[in-house]
Amino acid sequence: MAVPFFTPGVGEAEIDAVVECLRSGWLTTGPKTREFEALFAQYVGAQHAVAVNSCTAALHLALEAIGLQRGELVLVPTLTFAATAEVVRYFDAIPVFADADPKSLCLDPAHAEAILRSLRAGESVNGVPAAHGPVRAIIPVHYGGQMADAGAFRRLATEYSLAFIEDAAHTLPAQYRESEAAPWQSVGTTADITCFSFYANKCITTGEGGMAVTAREDWADRMRIMSLHGMSRDAWKRFTATGSWYYEIVAPGFKYNLTDIASAIGIAQLARADAMWEARRSVAERLRAALGDLEELTLPEELPNRKHSWHLFAVQLVLEKLTIDRSGFIDALKSAGVASSVHWLPLHMQPYYRESFGYVPDHFPVAAAAWPRLLSLPIFPTMTEEQVDQVATAVRNVVTRHRRRG
Ligand SMILES: Cc1ncc(COP(=O)(O)O)c(C=O)c1O
Repeated sequence: MAVPFFTPGVGEAEIDAVVECLRSGWLTTGPKTREFEALFAQYVGAQHAVAVNSCTAALHLALEAIGLQRGELVLVPTLTFAATAEVVRYFDAIPVFADADPKSLCLDPAHAEAILRSLRAGESVNGVPAAHGPVRAIIPVHYGGQMADAGAFRRLATEYSLAFIEDAAHTLPAQYRESEAAPWQSVGTTADITCFSFYANKCITTGEGGMAVTAREDWADRMRIMSLHGMSRDAWKRFTATGSWYYEIVAPGFKYNLTDIASAIGIAQLARADAMWEARRSVAERLRAALGDLEELTLPEELPNRKHSWHLFAVQLVLEKLTIDRSGFIDALKSAGVASSVHWLPLHMQPYYRESFGYVPDHFPVAAAAWPRLLSLPIFPTMTEEQVDQVATAVRNVVTRHRRRG
Protein backbone atom coordinates (compact mmCIF):
# COMPACT_ATOMS: atom_id res chain seq x y z
CA MET A 1 0.00 0.00 0.00
CA ALA A 2 1.34 3.44 -0.91
CA VAL A 3 1.00 6.39 1.46
CA PRO A 4 0.59 9.69 -0.42
CA PHE A 5 2.16 12.86 0.93
CA PHE A 6 -1.26 14.42 1.22
CA THR A 7 -4.92 13.72 0.45
CA PRO A 8 -7.42 16.54 0.92
CA GLY A 9 -10.15 15.87 3.48
CA VAL A 10 -13.10 16.47 1.17
CA GLY A 11 -16.30 14.45 1.22
CA GLU A 12 -20.01 14.48 0.48
CA ALA A 13 -20.57 17.85 2.20
CA GLU A 14 -18.17 19.57 -0.22
CA ILE A 15 -19.64 17.74 -3.22
CA ASP A 16 -23.20 18.69 -2.19
CA ALA A 17 -22.14 22.30 -1.63
CA VAL A 18 -20.66 22.53 -5.13
CA VAL A 19 -23.73 20.96 -6.72
CA GLU A 20 -26.00 23.37 -4.82
CA CYS A 21 -23.89 26.30 -5.99
CA LEU A 22 -23.96 25.11 -9.62
CA ARG A 23 -27.74 24.72 -9.44
CA SER A 24 -28.12 28.21 -7.93
CA GLY A 25 -26.94 29.79 -11.16
CA TRP A 26 -24.45 32.06 -9.31
CA LEU A 27 -20.93 30.76 -9.87
CA THR A 28 -18.53 33.63 -9.39
CA THR A 29 -18.07 35.92 -6.36
CA GLY A 30 -21.42 36.46 -4.70
CA PRO A 31 -23.49 35.47 -1.67
CA LYS A 32 -21.51 32.29 -0.89
CA THR A 33 -18.27 34.23 -0.84
CA ARG A 34 -19.70 36.86 1.49
CA GLU A 35 -20.99 34.06 3.75
CA PHE A 36 -17.58 32.33 3.71
CA GLU A 37 -15.88 35.61 4.65
CA ALA A 38 -18.27 36.20 7.56
CA LEU A 39 -17.89 32.63 8.86
CA PHE A 40 -14.11 32.73 8.49
CA ALA A 41 -13.83 36.05 10.34
CA GLN A 42 -15.96 34.62 13.12
CA TYR A 43 -13.92 31.39 13.27
CA VAL A 44 -10.59 33.14 13.81
CA GLY A 45 -12.05 36.10 15.71
CA ALA A 46 -11.09 38.76 13.16
CA GLN A 47 -13.12 41.86 12.32
CA HIS A 48 -12.88 41.67 8.52
CA ALA A 49 -12.11 38.88 6.07
CA VAL A 50 -11.49 39.29 2.33
CA ALA A 51 -11.68 36.14 0.22
CA VAL A 52 -9.29 35.90 -2.73
CA ASN A 53 -8.09 33.22 -5.11
CA SER A 54 -4.76 32.46 -3.34
CA CYS A 55 -2.65 33.32 -0.32
CA THR A 56 -0.19 34.88 -2.76
CA ALA A 57 -2.97 37.28 -3.83
CA ALA A 58 -3.79 38.01 -0.18
CA LEU A 59 -0.14 38.85 0.56
CA HIS A 60 0.04 41.05 -2.54
CA LEU A 61 -3.14 42.92 -1.56
CA ALA A 62 -1.88 43.33 2.01
CA LEU A 63 1.28 45.05 0.80
CA GLU A 64 -0.76 47.18 -1.61
CA ALA A 65 -3.10 48.18 1.22
CA ILE A 66 -0.24 49.42 3.40
CA GLY A 67 1.01 51.44 0.41
CA LEU A 68 4.35 49.71 -0.22
CA GLN A 69 6.43 51.67 -2.73
CA ARG A 70 9.27 50.91 -5.10
CA GLY A 71 12.68 50.60 -3.38
CA GLU A 72 11.22 50.16 0.11
CA LEU A 73 12.19 47.17 2.26
CA VAL A 74 10.15 44.29 3.69
CA LEU A 75 11.65 41.82 6.16
CA VAL A 76 10.83 38.19 5.36
CA PRO A 77 12.25 34.83 6.42
CA THR A 78 14.62 33.13 4.02
CA LEU A 79 13.08 29.78 4.99
CA THR A 80 9.76 30.17 3.23
CA PHE A 81 7.89 29.49 0.03
CA ALA A 82 8.46 31.68 -3.03
CA ALA A 83 5.23 33.65 -2.50
CA THR A 84 6.29 35.46 0.70
CA ALA A 85 9.12 37.29 -1.08
CA GLU A 86 7.87 37.46 -4.66
CA VAL A 87 4.95 39.69 -3.65
CA VAL A 88 7.50 42.26 -2.44
CA ARG A 89 9.17 42.18 -5.85
CA TYR A 90 5.79 42.88 -7.52
CA PHE A 91 6.26 46.47 -6.22
CA ASP A 92 9.93 46.61 -7.24
CA ALA A 93 10.48 46.74 -3.49
CA ILE A 94 13.20 44.69 -1.78
CA PRO A 95 12.70 41.61 0.38
CA VAL A 96 15.30 41.58 3.15
CA PHE A 97 15.86 38.05 4.39
CA ALA A 98 16.40 37.06 8.00
CA ASP A 99 17.33 33.70 9.49
CA ALA A 100 15.23 31.00 11.12
CA ASP A 101 14.94 30.13 14.77
CA PRO A 102 16.64 26.71 15.01
CA LYS A 103 13.86 25.16 17.09
CA SER A 104 10.68 26.31 15.37
CA LEU A 105 12.23 27.18 11.96
CA CYS A 106 10.04 30.30 12.02
CA LEU A 107 11.57 33.75 11.49
CA ASP A 108 13.97 34.48 14.37
CA PRO A 109 12.86 37.75 16.06
CA ALA A 110 16.37 38.34 17.45
CA HIS A 111 17.90 38.17 14.00
CA ALA A 112 15.14 40.33 12.54
CA GLU A 113 15.81 42.89 15.26
CA ALA A 114 19.58 42.86 14.59
CA ILE A 115 18.88 43.63 10.92
CA LEU A 116 16.44 46.42 11.77
CA ARG A 117 18.97 47.93 14.17
CA SER A 118 21.73 47.83 11.53
CA LEU A 119 19.46 49.43 8.94
CA ARG A 120 18.48 52.17 11.38
CA ALA A 121 22.16 52.82 12.10
CA GLY A 122 22.81 53.12 8.35
CA GLU A 123 25.07 50.04 8.35
CA SER A 124 25.27 47.74 5.37
CA VAL A 125 23.09 44.62 5.55
CA ASN A 126 23.45 41.46 3.44
CA GLY A 127 21.32 41.62 0.30
CA VAL A 128 20.28 45.27 0.76
CA PRO A 129 21.47 47.66 -1.99
CA ALA A 130 23.19 50.87 -0.87
CA ALA A 131 20.28 53.01 -2.07
CA HIS A 132 17.03 51.92 -0.54
CA GLY A 133 13.87 53.24 1.06
CA PRO A 134 12.60 52.62 4.60
CA VAL A 135 11.57 49.23 6.01
CA ARG A 136 7.78 49.16 5.74
CA ALA A 137 6.70 45.72 6.86
CA ILE A 138 7.68 42.42 8.41
CA ILE A 139 6.13 39.13 7.27
CA PRO A 140 6.79 36.19 9.61
CA VAL A 141 5.71 32.78 8.31
CA HIS A 142 4.17 30.20 10.64
CA TYR A 143 6.45 27.38 9.50
CA GLY A 144 4.57 24.11 9.15
CA GLY A 145 1.62 25.56 11.07
CA GLN A 146 3.29 26.61 14.33
CA MET A 147 2.86 30.30 15.02
CA ALA A 148 5.93 32.51 15.03
CA ASP A 149 6.57 34.66 18.10
CA ALA A 150 3.75 37.14 17.49
CA GLY A 151 4.43 39.12 20.68
CA ALA A 152 8.05 39.73 19.71
CA PHE A 153 7.11 40.75 16.16
CA ARG A 154 4.40 43.09 17.45
CA ARG A 155 7.02 44.85 19.61
CA LEU A 156 9.40 45.15 16.64
CA ALA A 157 6.58 46.46 14.45
CA THR A 158 5.77 49.12 17.04
CA GLU A 159 9.37 50.12 17.68
CA TYR A 160 10.30 50.36 13.99
CA SER A 161 6.88 51.56 12.67
CA LEU A 162 6.33 48.51 10.49
CA ALA A 163 3.17 46.87 9.25
CA PHE A 164 3.01 43.39 10.78
CA ILE A 165 1.70 40.94 8.19
CA GLU A 166 1.53 37.22 8.93
CA ASP A 167 1.90 34.52 6.28
CA ALA A 168 -0.44 31.93 7.78
CA ALA A 169 -0.62 29.75 4.66
CA HIS A 170 -0.03 26.66 6.86
CA THR A 171 -2.04 27.68 9.81
CA LEU A 172 -5.69 26.99 10.51
CA PRO A 173 -6.40 26.75 13.31
CA ALA A 174 -3.47 27.56 15.57
CA GLN A 175 -2.96 29.54 18.75
CA TYR A 176 -0.33 31.60 20.48
CA ARG A 177 0.08 33.14 23.90
CA GLU A 178 2.82 35.41 25.19
CA SER A 179 3.31 33.46 28.38
CA GLU A 180 1.54 30.87 30.48
CA ALA A 181 -0.28 33.67 32.27
CA ALA A 182 -1.49 35.31 29.03
CA PRO A 183 -4.70 34.37 27.21
CA TRP A 184 -4.56 32.20 24.08
CA GLN A 185 -4.87 34.17 20.83
CA SER A 186 -6.10 32.65 17.60
CA VAL A 187 -4.13 32.96 14.40
CA GLY A 188 -5.69 35.89 12.55
CA THR A 189 -5.85 38.14 15.60
CA THR A 190 -2.19 38.84 16.35
CA ALA A 191 -1.01 40.76 13.26
CA ASP A 192 -2.20 43.80 11.31
CA ILE A 193 -3.11 41.58 8.36
CA THR A 194 -3.01 37.77 8.28
CA CYS A 195 -3.02 35.82 5.02
CA PHE A 196 -4.28 32.24 4.69
CA SER A 197 -4.06 29.66 1.90
CA PHE A 198 -6.74 27.22 0.76
CA TYR A 199 -4.51 25.49 -1.80
CA ALA A 200 -5.29 21.79 -2.24
CA ASN A 201 -2.92 20.51 0.48
CA LYS A 202 -3.61 23.16 3.11
CA CYS A 203 -5.46 22.81 6.46
CA ILE A 204 -8.73 23.67 4.76
CA THR A 205 -8.99 23.80 0.98
CA THR A 206 -11.07 25.32 -1.79
CA GLY A 207 -8.78 23.84 -4.49
CA GLU A 208 -7.12 27.23 -4.87
CA GLY A 209 -8.01 30.11 -2.59
CA GLY A 210 -6.94 32.45 0.15
CA MET A 211 -8.15 34.94 2.74
CA ALA A 212 -6.80 38.16 4.22
CA VAL A 213 -8.08 39.14 7.65
CA THR A 214 -7.60 42.42 9.48
CA ALA A 215 -9.10 44.59 12.20
CA ARG A 216 -8.80 47.68 9.99
CA GLU A 217 -11.86 48.49 7.91
CA ASP A 218 -9.97 50.80 5.54
CA TRP A 219 -7.46 48.07 4.68
CA ALA A 220 -10.23 45.48 4.28
CA ASP A 221 -12.10 47.84 1.92
CA ARG A 222 -8.97 48.56 -0.09
CA MET A 223 -8.10 44.86 -0.41
CA ARG A 224 -11.66 44.01 -1.46
CA ILE A 225 -11.74 46.75 -4.10
CA MET A 226 -8.29 45.88 -5.42
CA SER A 227 -9.20 42.17 -5.57
CA LEU A 228 -11.75 43.02 -8.28
CA HIS A 229 -10.15 45.40 -10.81
CA GLY A 230 -10.27 48.40 -8.44
CA MET A 231 -14.04 48.62 -8.95
CA SER A 232 -15.90 50.74 -6.41
CA ARG A 233 -17.60 49.11 -3.43
CA ASP A 234 -19.94 46.16 -4.00
CA ALA A 235 -19.35 46.08 -7.75
CA TRP A 236 -19.86 42.31 -7.62
CA LYS A 237 -23.54 43.03 -7.00
CA ARG A 238 -23.95 44.79 -10.35
CA PHE A 239 -25.66 41.76 -11.91
CA THR A 240 -28.04 41.22 -8.97
CA ALA A 241 -31.52 42.63 -8.41
CA THR A 242 -30.32 44.73 -5.47
CA GLY A 243 -27.09 45.93 -7.09
CA SER A 244 -26.45 48.90 -9.34
CA TRP A 245 -25.17 48.65 -12.93
CA TYR A 246 -22.95 51.65 -12.27
CA TYR A 247 -19.45 51.30 -10.88
CA GLU A 248 -16.29 53.34 -10.94
CA ILE A 249 -12.68 52.27 -11.26
CA VAL A 250 -10.84 53.87 -8.35
CA ALA A 251 -7.44 52.23 -8.97
CA PRO A 252 -5.89 49.74 -11.41
CA GLY A 253 -6.76 46.61 -9.43
CA PHE A 254 -6.24 42.90 -9.91
CA LYS A 255 -8.40 39.86 -10.72
CA TYR A 256 -8.07 38.05 -7.41
CA ASN A 257 -11.70 37.40 -6.44
CA LEU A 258 -12.75 33.96 -5.13
CA THR A 259 -15.61 32.19 -6.89
CA ASP A 260 -18.80 31.13 -5.12
CA ILE A 261 -18.05 27.53 -6.16
CA ALA A 262 -14.79 27.69 -4.22
CA SER A 263 -16.43 29.51 -1.31
CA ALA A 264 -19.12 26.83 -1.08
CA ILE A 265 -16.33 24.26 -0.63
CA GLY A 266 -14.69 26.58 1.89
CA ILE A 267 -17.84 26.84 4.01
CA ALA A 268 -18.11 23.05 4.18
CA GLN A 269 -14.39 22.76 4.99
CA LEU A 270 -14.55 25.40 7.71
CA ALA A 271 -17.29 23.41 9.42
CA ARG A 272 -14.81 20.51 9.65
CA ALA A 273 -11.69 22.56 10.46
CA ASP A 274 -11.64 21.55 14.12
CA ALA A 275 -12.24 17.87 13.39
CA MET A 276 -9.50 17.86 10.74
CA TRP A 277 -7.17 19.63 13.19
CA GLU A 278 -7.87 16.95 15.80
CA ALA A 279 -7.11 14.25 13.22
CA ARG A 280 -3.79 15.89 12.22
CA ARG A 281 -2.87 16.25 15.88
CA SER A 282 -3.41 12.53 16.42
CA VAL A 283 -1.20 11.74 13.42
CA ALA A 284 1.54 14.03 14.79
CA GLU A 285 1.32 12.44 18.24
CA ARG A 286 1.46 8.92 16.82
CA LEU A 287 4.45 9.79 14.62
CA ARG A 288 6.23 11.42 17.56
CA ALA A 289 5.60 8.41 19.79
CA ALA A 290 6.77 5.97 17.10
CA LEU A 291 9.95 7.86 16.12
CA GLY A 292 10.89 9.68 19.33
CA ASP A 293 13.69 7.27 20.27
CA LEU A 294 15.63 7.66 17.00
CA GLU A 295 18.74 9.80 17.55
CA GLU A 296 19.14 10.10 13.79
CA LEU A 297 16.08 12.36 13.54
CA THR A 298 15.07 15.63 15.14
CA LEU A 299 11.29 15.66 15.31
CA PRO A 300 9.14 18.80 15.08
CA GLU A 301 8.08 20.00 18.50
CA GLU A 302 5.13 21.96 19.75
CA LEU A 303 6.70 24.84 21.66
CA PRO A 304 5.28 25.96 25.01
CA ASN A 305 2.61 28.63 24.47
CA ARG A 306 1.72 27.37 21.00
CA LYS A 307 -1.03 25.18 19.58
CA HIS A 308 0.36 23.84 16.31
CA SER A 309 -1.93 23.35 13.31
CA TRP A 310 0.23 20.37 12.21
CA HIS A 311 0.00 21.20 8.53
CA LEU A 312 3.51 19.77 8.13
CA PHE A 313 5.48 17.16 10.03
CA ALA A 314 8.97 18.36 9.07
CA VAL A 315 11.77 16.28 10.59
CA GLN A 316 15.47 17.08 10.37
CA LEU A 317 17.90 14.27 9.59
CA VAL A 318 20.93 14.14 11.87
CA LEU A 319 23.23 13.55 8.89
CA GLU A 320 26.31 13.01 11.08
CA LYS A 321 24.68 9.80 12.36
CA LEU A 322 23.60 8.51 8.95
CA THR A 323 25.42 7.07 5.94
CA ILE A 324 22.71 8.34 3.59
CA ASP A 325 21.85 11.87 2.49
CA ARG A 326 18.37 13.43 2.34
CA SER A 327 17.88 12.60 -1.31
CA GLY A 328 18.78 8.94 -0.67
CA PHE A 329 16.44 8.93 2.33
CA ILE A 330 13.56 10.20 0.16
CA ASP A 331 14.27 7.52 -2.48
CA ALA A 332 14.39 4.79 0.19
CA LEU A 333 11.04 5.95 1.62
CA LYS A 334 9.60 5.99 -1.88
CA SER A 335 10.69 2.37 -2.40
CA ALA A 336 8.76 1.54 0.79
CA GLY A 337 5.67 3.24 -0.68
CA VAL A 338 5.95 6.43 1.40
CA ALA A 339 5.84 9.82 -0.30
CA SER A 340 7.61 12.78 1.30
CA SER A 341 8.51 16.37 0.50
CA VAL A 342 10.94 19.16 1.43
CA HIS A 343 10.09 22.63 2.83
CA TRP A 344 12.21 24.46 1.53
CA LEU A 345 15.43 25.45 -0.20
CA PRO A 346 15.96 28.82 1.58
CA LEU A 347 15.12 31.69 -0.74
CA HIS A 348 18.55 33.33 -0.38
CA MET A 349 20.01 30.17 -1.95
CA GLN A 350 17.59 30.25 -4.91
CA PRO A 351 19.24 31.44 -8.14
CA TYR A 352 17.04 34.52 -8.56
CA TYR A 353 17.69 35.99 -5.09
CA ARG A 354 21.32 34.80 -5.01
CA GLU A 355 22.09 36.48 -8.32
CA SER A 356 19.97 39.59 -7.86
CA PHE A 357 21.00 40.45 -4.30
CA GLY A 358 24.41 38.76 -3.87
CA TYR A 359 23.48 36.32 -1.14
CA VAL A 360 25.72 33.40 -0.16
CA PRO A 361 24.52 30.39 1.88
CA ASP A 362 26.39 31.44 5.04
CA HIS A 363 24.50 34.71 5.29
CA PHE A 364 21.79 32.74 7.09
CA PRO A 365 23.55 29.84 8.82
CA VAL A 366 20.51 28.32 10.57
CA ALA A 367 18.43 28.03 7.40
CA ALA A 368 21.46 26.91 5.35
CA ALA A 369 22.28 24.19 7.89
CA ALA A 370 18.66 23.02 8.07
CA TRP A 371 18.26 22.80 4.29
CA PRO A 372 20.05 19.47 3.57
CA ARG A 373 18.38 17.89 6.61
CA LEU A 374 14.76 18.85 6.10
CA LEU A 375 12.25 16.16 5.23
CA SER A 376 8.47 16.47 5.53
CA LEU A 377 6.62 13.21 6.23
CA PRO A 378 2.97 12.61 5.24
CA ILE A 379 0.35 14.12 7.54
CA PHE A 380 -3.27 14.62 6.53
CA PRO A 381 -6.64 14.38 8.26
CA THR A 382 -7.86 11.13 6.67
CA MET A 383 -4.58 9.31 7.36
CA THR A 384 -5.32 5.96 9.01
CA GLU A 385 -3.35 4.52 11.93
CA GLU A 386 -2.09 1.82 9.54
CA GLN A 387 -0.77 4.51 7.20
CA VAL A 388 0.91 6.35 10.07
CA ASP A 389 2.49 3.10 11.22
CA GLN A 390 3.65 2.34 7.68
CA VAL A 391 5.37 5.73 7.54
CA ALA A 392 6.99 5.21 10.95
CA THR A 393 8.16 1.70 10.07
CA ALA A 394 9.56 2.85 6.73
CA VAL A 395 11.47 5.70 8.42
CA ARG A 396 12.80 3.37 11.12
CA ASN A 397 13.92 0.80 8.54
CA VAL A 398 15.80 3.41 6.50
CA VAL A 399 17.50 4.70 9.67
CA THR A 400 18.42 1.19 10.81
CA ARG A 401 19.86 0.28 7.41
CA HIS A 402 21.89 3.50 7.17
CA ARG A 403 22.97 4.10 10.75
CA ARG A 404 26.57 5.29 11.00
CA ARG A 405 28.51 2.96 13.36
CA GLY A 406 31.26 4.02 15.72
C1 LIG B 1 4.42 29.76 3.46
C2 LIG B 1 3.57 29.91 2.23
N1 LIG B 1 3.15 31.13 1.89
C3 LIG B 1 2.36 31.33 0.81
C4 LIG B 1 1.96 30.29 0.02
C5 LIG B 1 1.13 30.57 -1.18
O1 LIG B 1 -0.14 30.04 -1.08
P1 LIG B 1 -1.10 29.99 -2.36
O2 LIG B 1 -0.71 28.79 -3.14
O3 LIG B 1 -2.48 29.89 -1.78
O4 LIG B 1 -0.89 31.26 -3.10
C6 LIG B 1 2.37 28.98 0.35
C7 LIG B 1 1.94 27.87 -0.51
O5 LIG B 1 2.26 26.73 -0.31
C8 LIG B 1 3.20 28.79 1.48
O6 LIG B 1 3.64 27.58 1.80
